[in-house]
Amino acid sequence: MIKYIKDFILKENIELGSMYSLLKLSPADGIMPDMIPGQFVQVDIKGSKNTFLRRPISINFVDKEMNLLWLLVRRAGEGTSTLISAPAGEAINLILPLGNGFSLDNGKMLLIGGGVGVAPLLYLGKILSEKDSNVSFLLGARSKQDLLELEEFKKYGEVFVSTEDGSMGEKGFVTTHSILNDKFDLIQCCGPLPMMKAVAKIARLHNTQCEVSLENVMACGIGACLCCVEDTTEGNVCVCKEGPVFNIDKLKW
Ligand SMILES: Cc1cc2nc3c(=O)[nH]c(=O)nc-3n(C[C@H](O)[C@H](O)[C@H](O)COP(=O)(O)OP(=O)(O)OC[C@H]3O[C@@H](n4cnc5c(N)ncnc54)[C@H](O)[C@@H]3O)c2cc1C
Ligand code: FES
Repeated sequence: MIKYIKDFILKENIELGSMYSLLKLSPADGIMPDMIPGQFVQVDIKGSKNTFLRRPISINFVDKEMNLLWLLVRRAGEGTSTLISAPAGEAINLILPLGNGFSLDNGKMLLIGGGVGVAPLLYLGKILSEKDSNVSFLLGARSKQDLLELEEFKKYGEVFVSTEDGSMGEKGFVTTHSILNDKFDLIQCCGPLPMMKAVAKIARLHNTQCEVSLENVMACGIGACLCCVEDTTEGNVCVCKEGPVFNIDKLKW
């Protein structure tokens, strides 16, 4: 797929609590590149000496009608904090689309996300539902207020929730949710590493195909610096180029 280095204009910066923002960006030249769910962008962070490396952020959604790209950002350190406080009208430079993306098979699909790991699952759910797949989402967070874009997810499938404090849905982790007793053709998952490893274990027990999106620390994002390497059953691979989405059969978990 062709990669672009493009300026996008921040049209809307919607605060979702103190930790998250939903950024809606339009391409400065009006041309939105094609993107596959699960791919990501490398964001240039302006005005910060400590963040000269771009930061990888998942494609949250592509609103074709409004010609907007959505990025869901969680405040982690200086780069993401700078991004979260960007004013509408600011130009933000992106390299995109990067990485491979999720499989877009038909079937009974369970999309599992934890924390800001829900980000790539919204666009994935939309594209899968357009392919007549039966889509269910299982979204997990510490608490009710950390659950992101619930109303958006409901447009594309049935939504199941688990919260650690029991403030919404079933109390506990996504990995203890009762929906996991159902049979699915494919589980697609993004979130904290321990969560993805636990999901992979359950998928193996149920003999269900499973894909996970890894969030190894990245620098270049294009397979040049080798800083994101993962040791797989096919040897060392760059997560930014060969991933970030992997079938669990390829991972040494
Ligand atoms: C493929 C991919 C997709 C991602 N999608 C999203 C997303 O949609 N929304 C979102 O909010 N975050 C996403 N992240 C994580 C995001 O890239 C990091 O939180 C961000 O780079 C941290 O930068 P910072 O300057 O704010 O924090 P820093 O001060 O650099 O670091 C703060 C914390 O973030 C971790 N971190 C730093 N750099 C990276 C990095 N390049 N990759 C992963 N973790 C890092 C550090 O280990 C540290 O714990 C994604 C990461 C990857 C690899
Ligand atoms: S981030 Fe440079 S090779 Fe993956």
